[in-house]
Amino acid sequence: MRKPIIAGNWKMHKTVSEAIELCESLDRAVQDLEIDVVVCPPFTALSAVCALGMSKVKIGAQNVSIAEGGAYTGEISPLMLVDVCCSYVIIGHSERRQHFGETDAMVNQKVHLALKHGLHPIVCVGESLAQRKAGETETVVVSQTKAAFAGVAREQVPEVVIAYEPIWAIGTGETASAEDANQVIGTIRKTIAQIFDQEVADQIRIQYGGSVKPDNIQELMAQPEIDGALVGGASLDLKGFTAIVHYQTQ
Ligand code: 13P
Repeated sequence: MRKPIIAGNWKMHKTVSEAIELCESLDRAVQDLEIDVVVCPPFTALSAVCALGMSKVKIGAQNVSIAEGGAYTGEISPLMLVDVCCSYVIIGHSERRQHFGETDAMVNQKVHLALKHGLHPIVCVGESLAQRKAGETETVVVSQTKAAFAGVAREQVPEVVIAYEPIWAIGTGETASAEDANQVIGTIRKTIAQIFDQEVADQIRIQYGGSVKPDNIQELMAQPEIDGALVGGASLDLKGFTAIVHYQTQ
């Protein structure tokens, strides 16, 4: 049985004091839950949020460097993330691939480095609207998944979370239908089974992301292949995110 995992990707939002306020209330609101709840604030707020010592909510970063340290101006190493108390890190988000030239090879490097330092990567894959229209969805996610997991040891696979985020569904209010998301996620799971084996494919958790809201989370989570969600906009608001993580009792 895979434990559901819902993560909030705050992107470039919230000051340190806003982050503290949201996390304090969120941690209180999720004490009763048996799923994993993760927040990914901007780098500037990580230290303060870690210092809260939240008992239930886990903390992730939104990116990590391809290097462990050295002359990489503006970068943050996995050691620094572990130092402040992060346990997750989003890798290869489509916004990083689109705006910052992140390649499949860099995503793979980051996955290796994150695992080396005990961080759980949340690896993002997903097709653009043009790719979807051209019928390339499965080809794209299969190739991104294979690239991300190149050289990863079988026993580390369950440490990784995959997020299927169709680019056209991010921040647009458009969601893939729950059945559609389930099918693509099933294809990603089959790819993991092909690279490794069925046992680890059955263990790895795969989220859906893209306009997840309180009113569509239940339908998404009811799908057999969908193990959680990576939530952008709706994770910035305490009421909305609390409703999402409480999807079982909404
Ligand atoms: P939205 O939930 O705002 O569509 O963002 C999804 C996302 O990109 C999460 O990483």
